[in-house]
Amino acid sequence: MGEVRIGSVSLRHPVMTASGTAGYGIELGRYLDLSSLGAVVVKSLAHFPWEGNPAPRLAPVPGGMLNAVGLQGPGIAEWIRHGLVDLERVGARVVLSVWGFRVEDYVRAAELIAPIANRLTAVEVNLSCPNIDHGSDGSSHEMFAHHADLIGAILRGMSTVGVPLWAKLSANTTELVAMARAARDAGADAVTLINTMRGMSLVEGGRRASLGKGAGGLSGRVIHPIALRAVYEVHAELPTLPIVGVGGVTNGHEALAMMAAGASAVQVGTATFADPRACAHVRDELNDLARREGVGNWSSLVGRAHGGSSR
Ligand SMILES: Cc1cc2nc3c(=O)[nH]c(=O)nc-3n(C[C@H](O)[C@H](O)[C@H](O)COP(=O)(O)O)c2cc1C
Repeated sequence: MGEVRIGSVSLRHPVMTASGTAGYGIELGRYLDLSSLGAVVVKSLAHFPWEGNPAPRLAPVPGGMLNAVGLQGPGIAEWIRHGLVDLERVGARVVLSVWGFRVEDYVRAAELIAPIANRLTAVEVNLSCPNIDHGSDGSSHEMFAHHADLIGAILRGMSTVGVPLWAKLSANTTELVAMARAARDAGADAVTLINTMRGMSLVEGGRRASLGKGAGGLSGRVIHPIALRAVYEVHAELPTLPIVGVGGVTNGHEALAMMAAGASAVQVGTATFADPRACAHVRDELNDLARREGVGNWSSLVGRAHGGSSR
């Protein structure tokens, strides 16, 4: 089937892990051959260590889960010394995900990453974070991913990093296409769609929220139709912008659907919590489906749902 192209990046397979669901290094390595995936996308890291949110941080809901992990992590410098080295040792292609509170945080992250740029396949820029630059009230309900100007400022601020940038956007907006366009215009090689959807659940007869933080991010099968719609809409409007599709993919059919909607590659997230080999199963099932259909190269699948009638 050959390699898969995402902008300037070539991967050996379209299936990869989703940030935050596969650890920082080789945590999944005892369950599957990480070098056989397109890439391992590590949990989002900032230029500083961060403690994350109060427990409980995860709550199951029908068809998926809620999380409010709050981007806990050891910081980029620490990860370079440990997680990256481990992933290189097993031959994995590595995508580093970065986050921050302020534009300046992303710029600082880029400065730390630049010296190791040749060891990374891409940097995924997690823009679904609270945005402190925008409002003087420091509202935690707003996200960078909802502000075209700030998306542009972050991506331009990271442009000297020397690694292709994938802008990870939130679908908690009616302006997704405009945000994807802003990312493209600011130099993103690709967009990753989607992050979790905002949600919450209650326990103890409705006396308290299931998550320590109250609301959180909904993921898993229940968001697959939303992710598919997001990928489809962005591909319809911006057909030359590469998309990495993520959201509720648990099997080969759903991965193929993401590609048919317009994704060049697919990430598997929450499914890994139920089965640590989920990525490998999705990879194998997608291979079988493609083989059965006589697909010669991955790119022939990308966007085929549009069939000329979507524009
Ligand atoms: C526990 C958990 C932690 C996550 N952490 C991150 C993160 O650090 N950075 C990020 O960009 N996305 C994070 N995500 C979002 C996933 O990468 C993915 O976009 C989302 O869960 C939808 O895919 P899924 O339904 O396959 O899980 C996290 C998701 C979960 C469930």
